[in-house]
Amino acid sequence: MSTTPMLQFALDFITLPPAIAVASKTAPHVDIFEIGTPLCKAAGLDAIRAVREVCPDNLILADFKTPDVGWLEAKMAFDSGADLMTVIGGAPMATVESALKTANEYGKEVLMELTGVRDIIAYAKEWRQVGIEWMVYHRGWDEEASNRQWSQDDLDTIRRLIDMGFKVTVTGGLTNDSIPFFQNIPVTALITGRAIHAAPDPVASAMEIRSTISRLWGAPQPDYLAPGGNGTDLEAAAKAIRWGISEMDLLLTTDGTDCPGCDATGRLCRGTQTAVFVPDNINVDDLVGAIERIMGPSRAYGKVDHAAFYLDPAQLAAYSPAAVVQLLTATGNALSGLGHRVDLNSGISTANQILGN
Ligand code: 5RP
Repeated sequence: MSTTPMLQFALDFITLPPAIAVASKTAPHVDIFEIGTPLCKAAGLDAIRAVREVCPDNLILADFKTPDVGWLEAKMAFDSGADLMTVIGGAPMATVESALKTANEYGKEVLMELTGVRDIIAYAKEWRQVGIEWMVYHRGWDEEASNRQWSQDDLDTIRRLIDMGFKVTVTGGLTNDSIPFFQNIPVTALITGRAIHAAPDPVASAMEIRSTISRLWGAPQPDYLAPGGNGTDLEAAAKAIRWGISEMDLLLTTDGTDCPGCDATGRLCRGTQTAVFVPDNINVDDLVGAIERIMGPSRAYGKVDHAAFYLDPAQLAAYSPAAVVQLLTATGNALSGLGHRVDLNSGISTANQILGN
């Protein structure tokens, strides 16, 4: 099993339309959509159904934080399209067992939400015995507002839970900058809400966070990508993609803003991912499908929205300068196959220069 954590995006809204809008845009960059507790209370099961409709390929978690009548709330969540639901840590064991029984019947998952649980390890032993496998390790919003910081104690507890065999998801004010705090721990998912939905560009933020997770937990990088290797690193790979794409006369997405350039800190492409406008008359799903037929399934490319796709060399299964060039070549060939001519030779030659090939 991969030890790279999934990215879970908490849709903590109090009305449904903005949640649907941001979910449909970020879907390619997110593994699990959480129907946040406020949205569950505001829009109920309609929220689960609506997200399921616009995001058919993502996992969905209903953050009910159920305190009683576990079987009924689990059934309501799963019947509406959720794959996972949460029971609050303070719930009686009878509630935990009843939700679990329903989850087992549906082949779905119940997560214990640890907000407010004081002796987590003692309870964890009991939950393990009744069959709980997933935990949500959570610094609540109120605790965060009271200045509770993430600490070594949190890391120790998370690690003990994982050692006990739990899949642990972690949440509570996580940002792209705070995620590295957890980097040595094989957590199952990292959950962010505000860091994505309150960002000026939620898609860019989701892409950046996922890129950070891949970089920190992903496959070890071969020497040529390591700083001090042969001078090439992931940044150079991303730059080779950006410049190569531009040489192929494709447009990086800019929201109407001029990019200050690949080497500027304020550049528009975030992390190692480059978002590219799909040329007119080409359907983004057709393009992504065509790249997949050439490259095989990979997270190194994908759909951003109806108008754009992305390329991300950090997500290549096996990094090499040749693989970076192959990603560019597959993109060019896919476009040509769909009737859009690109200057592939210029793109490849520029990328090769940057990669030192
Ligand atoms: C609050 C929650 C939130 O969904 C969770 O904390 C993630 O949101 P954020 O990243 O904004 O803290 O469960 O109770």
